[in-house]
Formats: sequence, structure tokens, C-alpha cells
Amino acid sequence: MTASRDMDLTPAPGRRGLSERLRAWRNRLVADAGFQRRVARFPLTRRFARRQAEAMFQETSGFVRSQILFACVELDLCSLLAEEPLAPSEIGGRTGLPRASVDRLLPAARALNLVGEDRDGRWSLRDGGAVIHGNEGIRAMIRHHAMVYRDLADPVSLLRDPARGTETAAYWAYAGARAGEGVGAAEAGVYSALMRSSQDLVAGEVLDAYPMGRHRAVLDIGGGEGAFLAAAGARHDRLTLHGFDLPPVAERARAIMRDAGYGARYVAHGGNFFTDDIPPVADCVTLVRVLCDHDDAAAAALLRNIRRTIAPGATLLIAEPMDAGDTGGSLAAAYFGLYFVAMRSGRCRSPQHIESLLAEAGFESVRKVRTRNPLFASVISAKARREL
Ligand SMILES: C[S@@+](CC[C@H](N)C(=O)[O-])C[C@H]1O[C@@H](n2cnc3c(N)ncnc32)[C@H](O)[C@@H]1O
Repeated sequence: MTASRDMDLTPAPGRRGLSERLRAWRNRLVADAGFQRRVARFPLTRRFARRQAEAMFQETSGFVRSQILFACVELDLCSLLAEEPLAPSEIGGRTGLPRASVDRLLPAARALNLVGEDRDGRWSLRDGGAVIHGNEGIRAMIRHHAMVYRDLADPVSLLRDPARGTETAAYWAYAGARAGEGVGAAEAGVYSALMRSSQDLVAGEVLDAYPMGRHRAVLDIGGGEGAFLAAAGARHDRLTLHGFDLPPVAERARAIMRDAGYGARYVAHGGNFFTDDIPPVADCVTLVRVLCDHDDAAAAALLRNIRRTIAPGATLLIAEPMDAGDTGGSLAAAYFGLYFVAMRSGRCRSPQHIESLLAEAGFESVRKVRTRNPLFASVISAKARREL
């Protein structure tokens, strides 16, 4: 039994610890309207108060902001303006929006730094819009939010009733109770295309952080259509590439990687990573955006199955958004915290949480690999223990 189960560490009522009392006092102060007014007026705290108010407004208006983004993507506004600056009447003509609506959407999109108005009254792209224009993966993620946000429209009932079916759970057909069983080609095709188009940023981040060239062969488990391995193979031409995924996804990966010219250098293995043997073909095994899809029991089962079949001493690399306490990590924790509720499976874990799952499954030498932008991926490496 753990110490916390043995002993009741809750302070007795009326005997709260110092930090708890300080926190309560601070919260009472910050909640007080008079205090807020004084902080907003006082020259030394004015700027801080304004930043806090702006941050709170951003959170409060987050849904509206993402709907502005969604409208721009659906109307292909960024691609239109990437070709040439356009007058509002031309934008109306190309998007099919009435002029009055164009006049409402453009200033809203300007506020998000997607577009801007030029001196001659035409509108052109700004940095945010250019990023969206240049990245099909971001556009695909924004589009698929229409479905996720339908599920999140009533977050309280979603949280109250974990058994209620959702569109997001049906979309990620392999997750939750299905555990990869019976996933058809059509279902696999939809989520696999989204994953491939959004893999660029993740692969760049991981491969910049981890020297994959030190390995002979890499096996990407849950590797989808092979996008991560394609990026690894492009950087390290002696690396042998193996992907493992559900049979319909492995089928897609085989065709895509063949067409991309990887030929015999890429081998696709089809199977269920919970129940089938993982082929012992690589000295480095990767899980990219995979472990987070699964609740603890399933994640532990997956790690044990990998450990059972890979060579002792082989490296396991886990790359996914983690709740690592930094800014990127906390953005990921908030987003995935609710996303996985809609998906009915998965967790955005802290590195410590992943480390304990790894230790239980028979991995050692667990190390956090620093990435440039943890919003795209944090990375943990570990070695398969010599004895189980
Ligand atoms: C979120 S996607 C990540 C794909 C890819 N690693 C990436 O980052 O783009 C999860 C992948 O795990 C695969 N997968 C899920 N459950 C599986 C199972 N039981 N056996 C094998 N693959 C599975 C899915 O088919 C999907 O390709």
C-alpha cells in the first residue's frame, strides 16, 4: 500500500498549511473588484493588469476566433489572396459571399493577422494567412475541428457521460474499446490522410532533436502512411525503414512509399500492435503521436508488447505533445485534455507519467530529448532492459 493510502495527509479543517492559506488569501484579493480596479490604475501594475485582461478575453472569445479561422479556410481566402491582392468586391465574387459579409469577415481576419488592407483598398495576406496558405496540414486540422467542436458544444454533458458516443470517437476508428479491431479501409483512409498532411512539422521537430542517423534501421509503430519515415529516410540515406500499422493503413503506406520512390528500402508490416508480434527488425522503434491516443491500460499494454518483441538494448523513441510545464506543453495540455474527452480515448501525459509507464513495461535509461517547439512534439527516448 502506498503512503498516501495509509495516511490521511489532508490537513484537518481549520489547520490548513501556510501555502494553502496564502493561496486562498491571494485568490480572495484577485477576485475582488476593488483590488482589480486599483491594479488597473496603478502605474506599476497597469500593464500587467491589461495583459491579464487581454489574455482572459482571448480565452473567452476563443471559439469565435477559431470560427473566423474556419471561415477563412473553408472559403480558401488565404489561397485567393496568395495569388494577388484583391478588392472586397472581387473577394465577394470569388468566395460567393455578399459584400456586406465580406466587409465583416475581412476586419475580423485582420485581427487574427491573417490578412491586411493595403493603401489602395485591396486586401492581401499577412504572416498568419501565409502560414495557413503554405501548410495543407494546418488547413486539414482546422477543417476537422468542425466535427470536434460539434462534440465539444456541450462539454459538461460530454464530461458527465463518458459512455455517450461522439463523432470524434467514430472518426478515430481504432481507438478506445475497438483497440484497432475491424478498422475498414474507408475509415482508415480518412484519418490517415489527416495524419500524413500534418506530419511535416512533427517530423522536422523530432529529427532535428534526435540523431536518427546513429541507427541502422527504424521501425515506426503506428506509422500511418509513412510520412515520418519518409522524412527520416530523406535525411539519412543509409537508414532502413519499416512501418507497422493496421493492415488497411499498411496497405496505403506501401503504395504511397513505393510511388515516392522508396522501393525496397521501405517495408510495411500490417498487424495489431496490441496483440500481434512486433517484427524485431530495427535498433530504433518509434511511436509518433501514438501513445497519447490511448488510456493508461492500453498504453501500458502497447509498451509491454513492444518490449516483449524488440531486442534488448534497442531504443524506443516516443514523440508526441506532452504536458511538460512549458508554454507549448500547457497549450497542448489544454487542447488535448478536452480533445481526448471528445475522442473517448487518450491522454496528454507529463514526461514523468510516460517515464513511469516505460519503467513498468521494462524500459530503462529514460531521457527527455529537448525539442525546439514542444507544441508540435516533445520527445522521450528509452532503452529496452536486458532482462524482463
Ligand atoms: C494518431 S495516428 C499517428 C500516425 C503517425 N504516427 C503520425 O504521427 O502521423 C495513430 C496511428 O496508429 C495506428 N494504430 C492505432 N491502433 C493500432 C493498432 N491496434 N495496431 C496498429 N496500429 C494502430 C493508426 O492506424 C494510426 O495510423
